[in-house]
Amino acid sequence: MPTQPHKYAVFVSGRGSNLKAILDAHAEGRLSHLPSLVITDNAQAYALEYARQYGVETLFIDPKAHKGRKAFAAYTLEELRRRGIDTICLAGFMRIVDGLLVEAFRNRIINIHPSLLPLFPGLDAQKQAVDVGAKESGCSVHFVDEGVDTGLVILQAKVALEEGETAETLSKKILAHEHRIYPIVIQALLEDRIRLADGRAVIVEKGE
Ligand code: GAR
Repeated sequence: MPTQPHKYAVFVSGRGSNLKAILDAHAEGRLSHLPSLVITDNAQAYALEYARQYGVETLFIDPKAHKGRKAFAAYTLEELRRRGIDTICLAGFMRIVDGLLVEAFRNRIINIHPSLLPLFPGLDAQKQAVDVGAKESGCSVHFVDEGVDTGLVILQAKVALEEGETAETLSKKILAHEHRIYPIVIQALLEDRIRLADGRAVIVEKGE
């Protein structure tokens, strides 16, 4: 029996440039599947425009309509299960994901973060790097676990900080790499090409 292809949802809260990179990667043949669903906690998120342009279903889940993080997660889980979605990609989703969702999607939920984790987790990662005078920073795609930006790193890209670097210039430089590496990891996840061994996550080639 052929196994069912994985179905994934992208979670967004705002601008949506990473979502756009994912959708573009599909249009350009670098990603085999479109997301089955885009979920947002912000009805005004510009990201929703991109989803609509590509005909991807969107779902706004209002945090105010659910009492607490667990209730929000339980409702989200129901909506994902109803659609047979087994993979989650957080792309600028500015809300801590409850352990309920993490547990249900263990090793099938990933996030992109604008620093070389474990450095500069949490908010304003680019400003954190500038403020300590870091010589380099970058971005990381990692599995989501119960902590904040603490899950196993899958892929990273580095950028150098130059003289006069600001959080804005650094963000822009890092973002170009985010857009490049996120579709690579998503494709690997869709093809079950991320191997977990000895406390490391490694992307392998097809057939390896
Ligand atoms: C991106 O830089 C992403 O790495 C970051 O938010 C931005 C979203 O931009 N995520 C985090 O900081 C999560 N901790 P986008 O909406 O244009 O994709």
